[in-house]
Amino acid sequence: MSKTIIISNRLPLQISIEDNNLEVTPSVGGLATGLKSFHRDGDSIWIGWTGLTEEEIPESLAQDVKKRALEEACVSVNLTAEEIEGFYYGFSNRTIWPLFHYFMEYTEAELSFWEIYKKVNQKYANEVLKHYQEGDQIWVHDYQLLLVPNMIREKAPEAIIGFFNHIPFPSYEVFRTLPWREEVLEGVLGADLIGFHTYDYERHFLSSVSRILRLQVDFNEVTLPNRIVKVDSFPMGIDYEKFEQAALNHFKNTSEEQSDLQNRLDHHLKTTPEAKLILSIDRLDYTKGIANRIRAFEYFLDRNPEYVEKVRLVMLAVPSRSNVPQYQRLKREIDELVGRINGKFSTVNWTPIWYFYRSMPFENLIDLYTSCDVALLTPIRDGMNLVAKEFIATRTYHTGVLILSEMAGASHEMNEAILINPNNFEQISSALKQALEMPKEEQIQRNKMLQKRLKRYSVEKWANDFIKALKNTKDNRNDSQSI
Ligand code: ADP
Ligand code: F6P
Repeated sequence: MSKTIIISNRLPLQISIEDNNLEVTPSVGGLATGLKSFHRDGDSIWIGWTGLTEEEIPESLAQDVKKRALEEACVSVNLTAEEIEGFYYGFSNRTIWPLFHYFMEYTEAELSFWEIYKKVNQKYANEVLKHYQEGDQIWVHDYQLLLVPNMIREKAPEAIIGFFNHIPFPSYEVFRTLPWREEVLEGVLGADLIGFHTYDYERHFLSSVSRILRLQVDFNEVTLPNRIVKVDSFPMGIDYEKFEQAALNHFKNTSEEQSDLQNRLDHHLKTTPEAKLILSIDRLDYTKGIANRIRAFEYFLDRNPEYVEKVRLVMLAVPSRSNVPQYQRLKREIDELVGRINGKFSTVNWTPIWYFYRSMPFENLIDLYTSCDVALLTPIRDGMNLVAKEFIATRTYHTGVLILSEMAGASHEMNEAILINPNNFEQISSALKQALEMPKEEQIQRNKMLQKRLKRYSVEKWANDFIKALKNTKDNRNDSQSI
């Protein structure tokens, strides 16, 4: 029987070693949380990295790490500290990540990163080839593995290969600045089907293919000498029922008004009936617009002093890629901003920002989603932003307001949210006021429409649509061969 081989840089489980014991936690990030349900329900294996370098795994535990991954149908790829440095922290997160998110000033064109990126992509491709059997579908994920599709194709020309990019694909004018632009495009074109979250990313990719490689592009097909590659958009959804059910379970023990978080509020906010909580959740990443968001909150309090002692920004930032200098600088900037604004506005009764810099268990995440009144998500650029969708799925009373950046892929499907330009403080400030004052009936009306759409376009549908389209490319290939 054929299977799907999922391959991504990170596995959905992260392993660490404490006192000679393995500790396993779920991976954070849209790719892992989204694909996990597809993997759990289907017949697939998942190849990727556990988060431990070869040097960090004592010989006595090497088999245990493999075994633990296998329990979840995962195969671990061994990467050395040097490989992680050049491939993950280097080319993936100091070259491609900033470039694809339009942070050109952060983009480093470092030859040694590129060399090691190629080597590690080959390592992933080899691992896939070890498990591949004719008839399997291979599904490669994201910008860390752009060369893998063609590396597999070279050894298994008949293979059915799909590639999905979880981050934006930039416009041709930005992409063309990459020194290795031809190799990267050729790497991805090893796939039969290439998927993006939005139609814009798809068009940008096709424009680069036609202008840089001078290949024939007809609508959404690229013609290669011996095959046709399909390119399409598949907006990723969430496991809607999981979030809805978790919220319902959460409310079994609490009520809409008195969640865990609200019970733990200081006396002042708890006893202020009109008090409201504003939530933000992201990995600590410069693309997420966290610093802008805090400044916009300051702008809001400056212009709307009647909200002093009545609102709180609850901000969860999950540590991410902390070896990369830009992330270290951002961490310092945010610490400083939170300290300054809390210092500026705090009263003996009240602190305007609650800031958590850590990962949190799923239940706490649900507590945050369900107990806040407004979600304020302001990425400067974001491939999708699943947090926006998760927030809406947990609003089982249909109340709550989402303020979302129009630069997030998710904004294309979430028109009923208040959409803002993350660089416009004045607009964010008025959006906050609008959200805090929005009548309940209007909140309910907007959320019901969002919920209906998110329920229908779940992650399951996203994965099934992609795999179905991938299988169709095989049928197309057979058709064209028989003509
Ligand atoms: P990205 O993929 O860039 O990190 P997304 O918003 O698309 O951004 O996805 C983030 C994912 O990480 C969401 O599914 C969210 O539930 C999950 N997540 C965020 N914070 C935490 C946390 N503290 N613990 C566990 N999962 C988290
Ligand atoms: O969704 C984009 C993404 O970069 C994924 O590829 C990745 O798994 C996630 O964000 C988290 O990033 P990282 O794996 O670098 O911690």
